[in-house]
Amino acid sequence: MKVSVIGGTGPQGLGIAERLAIAGVEVIVGSRKEEKALDVVAKAKEDLADYDLNMVGMANEDAAKEGDVLILTVPLAAQKPTVEGIKEFCKDKIVMDATVPLETAIGGKPFRFVDLMEGSAAERTAKILEGTGAKVICAFCNISNSHLANIPEEIDCDCLIAGDDAEAKATAAEIIDKIPGIKTIDTGILEKARIIEKITPLLIGLNIKYKSHYGGLRITGIPALDKD
Ligand SMILES: NC(=O)c1ccc[n+]([C@@H]2O[C@H](COP(=O)([O-])OP(=O)(O)OC[C@H]3O[C@@H](n4cnc5c(N)ncnc54)[C@H](OP(=O)(O)O)[C@@H]3O)[C@@H](O)[C@H]2O)c1
Repeated sequence: MKVSVIGGTGPQGLGIAERLAIAGVEVIVGSRKEEKALDVVAKAKEDLADYDLNMVGMANEDAAKEGDVLILTVPLAAQKPTVEGIKEFCKDKIVMDATVPLETAIGGKPFRFVDLMEGSAAERTAKILEGTGAKVICAFCNISNSHLANIPEEIDCDCLIAGDDAEAKATAAEIIDKIPGIKTIDTGILEKARIIEKITPLLIGLNIKYKSHYGGLRITGIPALDKD
């Protein structure tokens, strides 16, 4: 199974790409410019020379076409044009969306949230992809790029996901859980993304207040989730 990270040249996308590739997943890093994707992948392979990374770079459209599962990691302002640009390649695919509507998108603070008409960024992606059969899942919103980049340390965080297709969520969880330390928790329907995405500015605020880069989240006390 090939996993494509759309907008995978930024810290969040590249962190996810590297972690998945280290875990043995075949990964495609997407960019608006193929050349940038190739450069970023070459540098990642150099930086992580101890690992045998199955990772290539492509333009976003090619990455979306080639990937079986897509992960979207672009800023809020780029979300709509990026998703519209790959829409024709999303047919029946799982599309994980890491977009968080931070106030920075409109010149504000990273610890503030902006409300979207659609309810959440993931629902916005789902709306754009309506009619394609794509199964949109809110994922990776609460995992910081610092955690992802802190290789080879395990990531001490749960990954809350939400989506309307149970089978797609199970497949997404199988992929995400390949990253050591992360435990994926299915929170329910896609509408739950409204809550999941709002946790991120809270974590960013905690990181600022307590001078950390590793603020994360663990859910406890739910016995059904504790059966590893
Ligand atoms: N950083 C984190 O810790 C973190 C944590 C949780 C969730 N997230 C979410 O993950 C997403 C990505 O975060 P990030 O920090 O990696 O973002 P970023 O570095 O600002 O952007 C990621 C990539 O998106 C592409 N991009 C940037 N501006 C664009 C534009 N105007 N149009 C089209 N593509 C554009 C760029 O790729 P190319 O130039 O190669 O096309 C860039 O490398 C965001 O929505 C963020 O809220 C981030």
